[in-house]
Amino acid sequence: MSTTIMIRAEHAAGERRVSATPDSVKRLVAAGATVLVASGAGAGALLTDAQYEAVGARIVAPADAAGNAPQADVHFHVRPLEPSEVSALPAGAVTLGTADPFTHPDSVAVARDRGVTMLALDLLPRISRAQSMDVLSSQSLVAGYRLVTMAADAFGRMFPMSMTAAGTLAPARVLVLGAGVAGLQAIATAKRLGGVVSANDVRAASADEVRSVGGTFIDLDLETADAAGGYAKALGEDRARRQQQLLAPHLAASDIVLTTAAVPGRAAPRLVTAQMLAGMRPGSVLVDLAAESGGNIEGSVAGERRAVEVAGGAITVIGARNIQSDLPVDASKLLAMNYANYLTPLLADGTLTLDFADELVAGCALTHEGAVVNPRIAELLEGASR
Ligand code: NAI
Repeated sequence: MSTTIMIRAEHAAGERRVSATPDSVKRLVAAGATVLVASGAGAGALLTDAQYEAVGARIVAPADAAGNAPQADVHFHVRPLEPSEVSALPAGAVTLGTADPFTHPDSVAVARDRGVTMLALDLLPRISRAQSMDVLSSQSLVAGYRLVTMAADAFGRMFPMSMTAAGTLAPARVLVLGAGVAGLQAIATAKRLGGVVSANDVRAASADEVRSVGGTFIDLDLETADAAGGYAKALGEDRARRQQQLLAPHLAASDIVLTTAAVPGRAAPRLVTAQMLAGMRPGSVLVDLAAESGGNIEGSVAGERRAVEVAGGAITVIGARNIQSDLPVDASKLLAMNYANYLTPLLADGTLTLDFADELVAGCALTHEGAVVNPRIAELLEGASR
């Protein structure tokens, strides 16, 4: 029987992205699935119900306030589902989207108790076969670009050096801390705007990656900290403090600081302390991409723009919050293809078959048939119930 996929409307305040576009729906329909789209689900990304209908989707009423959604086998969502949304799903339903289980363990527990299979695309193994499905990479790309435009907007100067008859304008000095997908995109974007860009990261490969997009790598002469899957591991307290000390003069010499450092499953590392902020030049702007997950910058608040006093004036510290949603059209376009690329190979003649021997299924699965199947999350939930 054909599997029915529901494209849910997002309810989180300010969320404008959607998990499917007419192009991705076309692919799912061609693979034999039946696709339902919640009316208005694409509006934030400038996609109309009629565009989805034209490629074979059926428009249905969105979930009500209690979370009750039309019946479907698979539910696509962008933001982690609330416990109330999961509890409105029937046993055997599958959810596919970002689950952020370390921050939303309650929703995982409800999925387990309801017999819902929760697939978290944010846990996708980083193997080459999975690159086209990687929502973290696609959304980090968008976020890295947006960080620069946010900083540019708050900066009272231009980025490029300009030699004019009226005088010379110095270029903006941009420092990027954390050079993963978002950081590399920020370096490339700031460079295109004309900034002089340098960056630091703790992974061994990052120096070459930074140079390849036009940045200068700042080598702090600290031991590298690589973990599996291309990610970083957390630094010990002494090393973290040493990193802060070594970064301080670089901050003092920068006009723009963009921080993107993250360690999966942990609070973001603190890279910039209040003392380091105090040593910066008036007019400098900092944007913290990690503000929602603990903050790379001391005192940054997600969704807020703060003035911090420094000698001779003030600097601006901006805490990013869901900034991918500021560019909903492109963010949704990439997300939608990630979802379709993940699900289409799992549809045999339009019917979803989950093979847990497939590392992409096993890697993403949080719950299945009444059990938490991800060991780390199972441990987290057990710890919480003890
Ligand atoms: P992420 O979002 O987990 O972290 C962002 C960056 O913060 C990372 O580069 C990390 O090394 C850095 N970081 C952590 N602690 C730090 C500290 N104390 N100081 C400075 N920097 C710190 O990572 P993201 O962006 O998702 O990916 C990291 C890398 O993984 C990429 O650059 C790439 O090499 C690799 N990757 C591989 C993929 C694949 O399919 N094989 C797909 C996507 C990324």
